[in-house]
Amino acid sequence: MEIIIQPTPEAATKIAARIIARQLREKPDAVLGLATGSTPLLLYRELVALKLDWSKVTTFNLDEYVGLPREHPQSYHSFMWENLFRHVNIAKKNVHIPDGNTKDIPKFCAKYEKQIRAAGGIDLQVLGIGTDGHIGFNEPTSSLASRTRIKTLTQLTRRDNARFFGSEADVPHHVVTMGIGTIMEAKQILLLAFGPKKSRAIAEAVEGPITAVNPASVLQMHPVTKVCLDAPAASGLQRADYYRWVYDNKPGWQTF
Ligand code: GLP
Repeated sequence: MEIIIQPTPEAATKIAARIIARQLREKPDAVLGLATGSTPLLLYRELVALKLDWSKVTTFNLDEYVGLPREHPQSYHSFMWENLFRHVNIAKKNVHIPDGNTKDIPKFCAKYEKQIRAAGGIDLQVLGIGTDGHIGFNEPTSSLASRTRIKTLTQLTRRDNARFFGSEADVPHHVVTMGIGTIMEAKQILLLAFGPKKSRAIAEAVEGPITAVNPASVLQMHPVTKVCLDAPAASGLQRADYYRWVYDNKPGWQTF
């Protein structure tokens, strides 16, 4: 893991946006895995401002609520179109977001996995992290080998996400999410986390043991993962000074 600590979310986001921009310039038909939530909002704004060419890009989103109409303002379909897709020249047919309203969820999930494979796999996966360490909607104790499937949200996640819905009771219980095994197959992973509420999940994920209790900790097994943090999110890291030194003294030839 490469741990990149910046003073603010804006500074950390700029670095993440540069990594994605480079990916799209090097491979115009790249396959991106995308995340939702408040964390990547700045990133999407930054990517839009960079005016990149998305015409050949394919995207796969991590997750979606089950039973929420697509047009609902809190569906991840709405989120992605509102915050990114409608501002860039992406082809609608290249956008993939799990369908939370499908009649046959297992069949849909198998198809989603197949579509990812048919696209050549995910080149770069953007991730946020839940306060409990979840990635996508893979809640603690999710199998580290899991594939796209239905999951039940924990009370903590429903409480965390209640701010978007008005009340906890309105947050769906079920979601469709890419599995941890699916996420781990991405060639490169970019995890973003901001704010003091994420410091514990980040410290456990980066410096703790690999455990399904903190699903993000599995990223220790991923060969090309970058973690972009603001200072509060990094405040629980024991080796923060080391990570800062490494980043500040990166040799010019080191591209990863
Ligand atoms: C959400 C999403 C995750 C996201 C996480 C953190 O519920 N399913 O993909 O990374 O929880 O959200 P936020 O960025 O709003 O803190």
